[in-house]
Parts: sequence; structure tokens; C-alpha cells
Amino acid sequence: MSNSTATKPFLSDVAELRKRAREHIETGAVTTTYEGDVEQAIEILQSVLATEIVCVLRYTQNAIAAVGIDSESVKDEFMEHAGEEQEHMMMVAERINQLGGNPNFDPDGLATRAASEYGGAETLVDMIKENLIAERIAVDHYRELIRYFAEKDPTTRVMLEGILATEEEHANDMHDLLVAREGTPFLPGPG
Ligand SMILES: [Fe+2]
Ligand SMILES: [Fe+2]
Repeated sequence: MSNSTATKPFLSDVAELRKRAREHIETGAVTTTYEGDVEQAIEILQSVLATEIVCVLRYTQNAIAAVGIDSESVKDEFMEHAGEEQEHMMMVAERINQLGGNPNFDPDGLATRAASEYGGAETLVDMIKENLIAERIAVDHYRELIRYFAEKDPTTRVMLEGILATEEEHANDMHDLLVAREGTPFLPGPG
């Protein structure tokens, strides 16, 4: 008979996996092979949750308040983004719950927990600019978090990678709207 460890395709044998899964069942989806710092992961995700909630609020407000020539197509775009930000909000809240945390939806302190700002634009162009800036903040923030989670928490990382791809699309949509209205993008360049 050949040595079973030499041919074994997995790092842990089934008996060991079964044994480990039975220990600490109170921690739910967080098993002993979770390599991240759960407390820190939850704290980070609370800030991501706040960011997404603020984005839902801003796009929803903008979709309703936008006025002016050609505002209908922009309103539709804002509303579509509001829906996608809400999906992100749900995904992040679910992940916090899976990690054993309590997703924080408290309006008190929401703006300070969030990475992006709610803004207060009144004109259509200012709304587009504020959304573009907020998306760029989210893109930078999420890229950094993806690097942080890396192999320590692949589930959270993959979730954030999916969200990041949508935020990049959002930023691009806002940029296109801005160029369509102003001819040139209006963002401070580096330096
Ligand atoms: Fe989002
Ligand atoms: Fe977005």
C-alpha cells in the first residue's frame, strides 16, 4: 500500500475537518482556519457599510432632486446606481452578520463612519461631480481593503472585488455624464 499522506489531495483529512467543525460551533461561519482578525474585519466592514448607506442616500436624493435640461436620463442613472449601492449595502451587512457582528445601521454617526461624503449639491453638474468624487474615494478605499484581506479572508476579499468593479463602472458613468455636459472632466489633477 502506498503512503496515504503522499497521495492525499487535501491539506487536512476529512476526519480532522469534521472534528474541527464540531468545535466552537457558536462562532458560526468563523472557523479555526479563519486567518484574519475578526474584530478588525467587522470594524472595517462597518465603515464599508456606512459608505454604502451614504451612497444609497446621496444617489436617491439626487435621482429625485435633479432638475434641468436632459435631467431625465441622469435621474435614471442616479436611480440605477442607488439600487446597486443598496445591493452592496446588503452584501456587506450580511457579511458582518456571518462574521458574528451586528451590522450598524444607526443614523447617529453614519457620516463619520463612512469614507465618502453625503454632499449637498443642488445643480445637476454638481451632483454628478460629487458622485464622481465619492466613487473615486470608494474605489481607492476598496482597493486598499482588498489588499488588506488578501488571503486572510478570501470571502470578504472576493465580495469587495465584486463591489469594486461596480464602483469603477459607477465612476466611469459619472465621468461620461460630466464630459457630456462640460466637455472636459472637472477634477483636480495630481500636484
Ligand atoms: Fe457601492
Ligand atoms: Fe458606487
